[in-house]
Formats: sequence, C-alpha cells, structure tokens
Amino acid sequence: MAQLWGGRFTKQTDQLVFDFNASITFDKRLFHEDVTGSIVHATMLAKQGILTEEEKKSIIEGLTGILEDVDAGKLTIDETQEDIHSFVEATLIDRIGDAGKKLHTGRSRNDQVALDMRLYTRARVAETDGLLEKLLEAILDTMENNLETYMPGFTHLQKAQPITLAHHYGAYFEMFKRDRQRLADIYKRMNYCPLGAGALAGTTYPLDREYTAKLLRFEGPTLNSIDSVADRDYLIEFLSALSTIMMHLSRFSEEIIIWNSNEYQFVELDDAYSTGSSIMPQKKNPDIAELVRGKTGRVYGALMALLTTMKGLPLAYNKDMQEDKEMAFDAMDTVADCIALFTGMIKTMKFRKDRMAKSAMNGFTNATDAADYLVGKGVPFRDAHGIIGRLVLYCIEKDTSIDALSLEELRSISDKFDEDIYDAISLKTCVEKRLTIGAPGAEMMKQVIEKNKEYLKTNAIEVYQQALEDRIQ
Ligand code: ARG
Repeated sequence: MAQLWGGRFTKQTDQLVFDFNASITFDKRLFHEDVTGSIVHATMLAKQGILTEEEKKSIIEGLTGILEDVDAGKLTIDETQEDIHSFVEATLIDRIGDAGKKLHTGRSRNDQVALDMRLYTRARVAETDGLLEKLLEAILDTMENNLETYMPGFTHLQKAQPITLAHHYGAYFEMFKRDRQRLADIYKRMNYCPLGAGALAGTTYPLDREYTAKLLRFEGPTLNSIDSVADRDYLIEFLSALSTIMMHLSRFSEEIIIWNSNEYQFVELDDAYSTGSSIMPQKKNPDIAELVRGKTGRVYGALMALLTTMKGLPLAYNKDMQEDKEMAFDAMDTVADCIALFTGMIKTMKFRKDRMAKSAMNGFTNATDAADYLVGKGVPFRDAHGIIGRLVLYCIEKDTSIDALSLEELRSISDKFDEDIYDAISLKTCVEKRLTIGAPGAEMMKQVIEKNKEYLKTNAIEVYQQALEDRIQ
C-alpha cells in the first residue's frame, strides 16, 4: 500500500479501503499516456521558467527510462500503488530524487487522468476507424464480385422482391460508413486538452496551456477548468458509436446465421471460422457470428453504465468517475475483436449462388413486377394489385409460380397478359430494371460502387490529423 498523500492523516488507510479505492489494476493501461503527458507537462513547466532546464532534463530522462524499462519488461508496474499516476511519480522520485518531486507542480490527478483517458480514447477511436475501413474494403470487394448474384430481398423476413448480393451488402456498407463518420466527428470534438485545469480551478502558476495542447496534438486547450475535469462526454459519445457499430454487426451476424441455417444454405462458413459440437458429429456452427451478436449486450451495458454513473454527479471531479474505465476498456477491446473477426469471417465465407437465385425465384418475389406489367398495359395499379393477388392465390393452390403458368392460365385471370409477360417477370428483368439511385440494377450498383471506392480513398481522421499538423507547424 503506497500513496501520494497522507500528510493530513493520523491513521493508516484500512487495507480493504485502499484496495477498494485503488485503480492501478485497470488504469495501468494508461501508462504510456501518463508518461507522455508528464513529459509534455515538464517541457511546458521549463519553458515557463517554473522548472530549470536541468530539472526538466532529469525528469524527462527519468520518465523515458521508466517507459523503456516497463516496455522491455525490466520494470513491472507496482500494483501496491494507488493508481498509474502514483506509480509513475513514485518511481520517478525513487530514480531521480528531488527533481521528481517537482513534476506535479501546477497539476492535479484530476486533470492528469482527464488527459490520460482522452489521449487513450483518441487513439482507440482512430484504431476502431481503421478496423472499419478494412471491413468496408471486404464488403466492397464482395459487392463488386456479386453484381448479378440474385437473392430474395425480405420484409418481415418474408420474401419481398428480388435483389442482388451486391445490393444487400451495399446496405451494410452505408451503415459502417456512417459509423466511421461518427468516429471522425467524435475525434474532432474531443480533441481539446484538459491538462492545466488543475483540480478544478486552474492554477496560479503561469502555465502555457496552448503550448501543452500543441505538443500533444490537440486542437487547443479546453476552455473551462471545471468542465475539463468533470467531462466524460467524449467517452459516452465513443461508447454510443461503439454500440451502434455492434448493433450493425449484430444485425449482419443474425443474417449470416439465418443464411447459414440448413433451411437457407445461402452461405457456407469457412471451417476456420466455424465450430463443432461435442455430441453431434454433423454440426458446423456459426459461433463467431453468434458471439458478435451476443457481445453487443455488453457494449450497450458499458454505455448505460457510464451514462448512469455520470447522471447525478455534481461538478467537478468525483471519485465515481474512476468507474469510467473498466467497462469502457472492455467495450473498446470487444468491438475491436468483433470487427476484426467479423471481417475475417465474411472474407472466407462462400456463397451458394444457385440456392440464392432459386430462393429468389420462389415466393412470388416477382409479383410487384407482374402488377407493374399490367399497369404498362393500361390497368390502374390498384386493379393490377388485385388481379395479381388472385393470381398468387391460384398459384398457391396449384403449388406453382407465376412464371410457370401457361399464357392461357394467365389470360383466364386477365386478358391483358401477352407472351412478353415471361420476360417482364424474369428474375433478371425484375432486378436489372430497377435503376433508380440506390436500387439493385447492376448499372446503378456500378455507379454506387465507384462512389464508394472514391470514398475509401480518403480517411477523414487522417485528413484531420494532417490539417492539424499543418496548422501547428
Ligand atoms: N484514479 C483516479 C480516476 O481514475 C484518478 C484521479 C484521482 N483524483 C483524486 N482526486 N482522487 O479517476
């Protein structure tokens, strides 16, 4: 049990209290950010004449040594310390002596943890974006190769109208594209530096917060010291974006599970991405898709937990806020794993195109087109709808499909039918004639794919980082 404070106490902290209060077992993840923030803080203090050049040099050498030793496994993070900030500072003092005691000048653990967590989260936002970029590339690849892979489109999980695999995947492309846009927004909005806010009311030392912000590649310093230490909005926003990503992955997983079922057999999962049963030898289960779907709950849980933790907190810092970490870290890790595994799974998954097309042909997916055909022959749409409805009923009774009926049978229901009906309601026609923007016709899909290829050429977060870099220089 080691702590940075104690002067005003007459008794030792109870061991259970210490353990309950300590955060080092989980905030040790912020080690790199903590050292980086401290190096920058010392640099700024020296520039402002608050530390001497020698003191700064000694502090930076000390911190760099700690960083290298932990990374090389020569020094282990001491879990008897209260938190990662205490560990770094205590180790520094241990190694360099009195100069180390000056590092915390004009700083509080409140603005320190606010900085560390922000730096860490910022990096994870960019990492998540990079993973989504790879997923989008895989989706677009499948789209390009499946412009004419016909399948049923569904509403209410009932066959509705024929579409293509490219079109279906295109829907997910749009979802994950929006997810990336959300991440880029969050990245920019959170990119302000809280260091220098002190405990809550700034400090009397002449800190150069602009300089600190610049060295840490922030847009600038935060503008209210209370808010700086009390704000976890950026984390809530990220958890919300992560929840939406999981919701998308979960819907996609659900579809893959359905497509992989014995009844559908639209896809076959690669052996490397499936698992077997300990009792049923025939089984090949879609466990990865199921786990992605299942893990969605815990990511939502992290969002709800933090929203709830924050809702009653008076300004400024309260220890409740230490609870922002464990579940958020878990959510970040979970989503990163899920995106990576999901990408691998869909890249190796095989499509049973024959079964998909056959399924698209059954179930009257061409009924709307048959009605449109009659409209083309001058029948008002509402009447055409009724006629085709009766035709469908006739087919159900005879256990057949519209396109399998003879012209006589068709004419027994409406004399508007001609030989050209068969072409008009073929699977190919039903899909390829749909050429409005966003529709499944191959010619339209090609245009959409081109646009999305262009989109993938620029990475919004990298563009922002570069622009910031140019401004800072
Ligand atoms: N471990 C704390 C946290 O995660 C660091 C800040 C502690 N500040 C304090 N005044 N006790 O929030």
